[in-house]
Amino acid sequence: MSQLNKYKRFTITSALPYANGPLHIGHLAGAYIPGDIFVRYLRLKKKDVVYVCGSDEHGAAITIKAKKEGTTPQAIIDKYHEQIKDSFEQFGIAFDIYHRTSSPIHHELSQEFFLNLYEKDEFIEKVSEQYYDEDFNQFLADRYIIGTCPNCHNENAYGDQCEKCGTSLSPTDLINPVSTLSGKPPVLKLTKHWYLPLDKYQPWLEQWIDTKEGSWKVNVFGQCKSWLKQGLQPRSMTRDLDWGIDVPLADAKGKKLYVWMDAPIGYISATKQWAIDHNKDWKLYWKKQADEQDNACLIHFIGKDNIVFHCITFPSILHAHGEYILPQNVPANEFLNLEGDKLSTSRNHAVWLHEYLEELPNKQDELRYVLTSILPETSDSEFTWKDYQARINNELVAILGNFVNRVMILMHKFYEGKVEAETDRIELTDAALKAELGGYYDEIEKNLEAYRYRQALQAVMDVARLGNRYLTEKEPWKTIKTDPEGAKQALHNCLVLIGHLATCAQPFLPATAKKIIGMLNWPNEVIPYDQEIYFNNGHQLNPSALLFEKIEDEVIERQLQKLQAKKEAAAPKSADVLPAKENINYETFTTMDIRTGIILTAEKIAKTKKLLKLTIDTGIDERTIVSGIAEYYEPEAIVGQKVSVLVNLEPREIKGILSQGMILMAEDSQGKLSFVAPVDDFHNGSVIR
Ligand code: 2FM
Ligand code: ZN
Repeated sequence: MSQLNKYKRFTITSALPYANGPLHIGHLAGAYIPGDIFVRYLRLKKKDVVYVCGSDEHGAAITIKAKKEGTTPQAIIDKYHEQIKDSFEQFGIAFDIYHRTSSPIHHELSQEFFLNLYEKDEFIEKVSEQYYDEDFNQFLADRYIIGTCPNCHNENAYGDQCEKCGTSLSPTDLINPVSTLSGKPPVLKLTKHWYLPLDKYQPWLEQWIDTKEGSWKVNVFGQCKSWLKQGLQPRSMTRDLDWGIDVPLADAKGKKLYVWMDAPIGYISATKQWAIDHNKDWKLYWKKQADEQDNACLIHFIGKDNIVFHCITFPSILHAHGEYILPQNVPANEFLNLEGDKLSTSRNHAVWLHEYLEELPNKQDELRYVLTSILPETSDSEFTWKDYQARINNELVAILGNFVNRVMILMHKFYEGKVEAETDRIELTDAALKAELGGYYDEIEKNLEAYRYRQALQAVMDVARLGNRYLTEKEPWKTIKTDPEGAKQALHNCLVLIGHLATCAQPFLPATAKKIIGMLNWPNEVIPYDQEIYFNNGHQLNPSALLFEKIEDEVIERQLQKLQAKKEAAAPKSADVLPAKENINYETFTTMDIRTGIILTAEKIAKTKKLLKLTIDTGIDERTIVSGIAEYYEPEAIVGQKVSVLVNLEPREIKGILSQGMILMAEDSQGKLSFVAPVDDFHNGSVIR
């Protein structure tokens, strides 16, 4: 506990996942497995810890999903909050509370934060031109607008952030902005918002972040320095949206808090709720104490796309408020890839946690082990099912499981599971074994405290390797005949080593550690880190059971096939077919008025290659429509052709002619066109739906 030893109390957070979809292994590897390992370690060190998380239920991520599924934001958050909470519980992430940002306690606290800053005159109130979608009558913030990132030229950057380079953006920073609602370039319209003056906090932020050099991960520290170097701009903390927390001001009717002025405050409101439920004082975990030494240690576990919000925006809000502690560390992870490709919700390229839990039941520790072994701690990493199988079979089964199993079987075979000796206590008697074990403990703790869980886990496995080596060297199954005392002592040493193995495996493999602790018939369910490990003379072991099973090829094949099937289902059916567009709801569809009609006249439009001027009998009226079909049809050949017409398309002037509608045409991958019309004889003006 080198650096961390000075703290009495710890407030640990893992990023609040958006309640807009299920969890996948990328989420686990980013913010949840690392947070969980760290918290379990702190608890084993008998630290006072609160570990909070919850669903992020506001912002465009939710409303866009609701539109896509043709339902309400409330239905979306209710559905996914329950599913995510359930998956976390089943997987065994040890939150003290899994809260939600839609709760009244959270709304109140977020408004309180906003008002606190407002009353201190921290915000810059500004009326400015913002992007607006005229088709949808909506301002376009955050995920409602995409365009090219001015920093890294990613073409799919959001209006508030480019997820590729992490830079925080404003919609007006985007090159070629497009509304994600209508797919059209937006227009500008005036609106009033409240801005957090990040430029004003910049000198303070620079000083504060400089104190983190060496203790923050290089990727996190480096990103912060680079943003500071570019210079921070004021950032709007309010939005023109109809879903979220109301801006608590009379002249902000209909406006909501920006989701990043809401979600991180969710860490605090979750702690408040936990404190109410457990009769604790939440302020001890969040507020500056009279004596600085009594301040809690705040640590945020996140993925790299959240760095800017946790290292720049949220600390600025906390600083401006003044009463709150700041994060001591923000150990962000990079991204996890899957089978050579980026994890993708839209392409369904993911291993979903709820599916894993169902299809591979009771294999939580196996997944924890594999993901911890490949955590994207310093750069992106990759999960493959073959690697999953290899790590389980060659490491968990062959090294850890094998050592524990061999010792337990021999103890039962030779001594009926009784730990008996001449001494009162049975402890480690082999000095070399003790010394090597001590080295691994140091390695585990050093790496755990530096957020290097891959290395820490390897050191745990080294303890099992040490056991296997010792057992192979001592061969008690042979020496039992020639040197029974020596054989017994060797097995007792192994047994004590298993006690240590269980101790240090607890943060990484909690279910496995619990099983071992059960087999050892240890008096408590957990073994704290400072526990002396020994057995009383005459201690009875419980029956032994296998810790892990080999993963057969069929299991892996099935998962690979499933992934392939998902990929195929999400991909266009052939290279000639474009992928499906985003879903629309029924109401949107019914706004289109499509009728059957007939072409009465057709003539080429001078000085154009593609355009024909058509007169159409729509049943409603006779009207002119300009259509780009001249390359495929001679005018005289199409007079009398039955057609389908979108009659309520806004009239548009094309080459000086007012075109009143659109003829529906099928177009193949070569650009060839064909009329879409009723095959039967239909009267003009029949409704198509
Ligand atoms: O990126 C995300 O998924 C956000 N929902 C993370 C929020 S973290 C915190 F600030 F609440
Ligand atoms: Zn970028």
